[in-house]
Amino acid sequence: TDIAALVARLPKAELHLHIEGSLEPELMFDLAQRNGIAIPYASVEEIRAAYEFSNLQDFLDIYYVGMNVLQTEQDFHDLTRAYLQRAHADNVRHVELFFDPQGHTDRGIAFKTVIDGITRALDDAEAEWGMTHRLILCFLRHLSEEAAFETLQQAMPHLNRIDGVGLDSSEMGHPPSKFARVFAKVGALGLKRVAHAGEEGPPEYVYEALDLLKVDRLDHGNRALEDSALVDRLVAEKMTLTVCPLSNLRLCGVERLEDHPMKRMLDLGLRATCNSDDPAYFGGYVNDNYVRTAEAVGLTADDIIELARNSFRGSFLEPDEIERRL
Ligand code: ADE
Ligand code: ZN
Repeated sequence: TDIAALVARLPKAELHLHIEGSLEPELMFDLAQRNGIAIPYASVEEIRAAYEFSNLQDFLDIYYVGMNVLQTEQDFHDLTRAYLQRAHADNVRHVELFFDPQGHTDRGIAFKTVIDGITRALDDAEAEWGMTHRLILCFLRHLSEEAAFETLQQAMPHLNRIDGVGLDSSEMGHPPSKFARVFAKVGALGLKRVAHAGEEGPPEYVYEALDLLKVDRLDHGNRALEDSALVDRLVAEKMTLTVCPLSNLRLCGVERLEDHPMKRMLDLGLRATCNSDDPAYFGGYVNDNYVRTAEAVGLTADDIIELARNSFRGSFLEPDEIERRL
């Protein structure tokens, strides 16, 4: 269709992508065999069949089991390489990847193994295709503040490769306020700050992300729409929202993609972007997210172009570099 052709030709940045969420069932199966790791599935088809979620926690329970197959530096490289190839095919020119070190260090994998594998693939993509990147370490919010501080300590020797810190995993019951002190330290280190907020959690969690964590960007932010004063503030502050429509659909944030608020967000003047979150689990990479959302909610060509431009405006590229790419 016209929409698919437009989306395919637009240069894009992807700003909300958990690298562990790009682990396709085929690679999961191969790595399980390569590493002698038991997984609770007998085939690739069985893995895919397990991907029926009724909320965020349902997904996370399966996501943390899947990542157990990741053991060596080469595994993290191969995972990242596979995602970057998909992104390159979608005409993604800049990626800002999340990774979840605690999902690996808590099962005995060294922080260095994780980051060395990921950055080797990122460096190759830049050399081969000119695809630029930023790397964002996420704290798992269901774990303690102390565990987040320990993870930040483990990251210290690698800060030359880490551009920002985020907050992900189970949102309800784990408000941003739990991590205010560790995010203050992150800011003092000169790192960017982002947080998942308003994916399942209430507008109050979005306020906390802004006021207590001092985020430079908001991940999801859907439930901010319930509070018009909050919407006005996000518009006034030109806050970027990294929206993930197919994720919202598969985690039942919306019942049907036709109900997705992407069009409303743009019409309100919010700086929304379109991203894939965990594409191996949610059934689509970035172009699929653009096309299916555009068709479902009636995005115009101008809306689609705006989403792609917002992805660069909201990136952590240098201002002159952003200007050059718009
Ligand atoms: N970890 C991976 N994907 C996530 C999401 N969509 N929300 C919270 N934590 C996550
Ligand atoms: Zn996410």
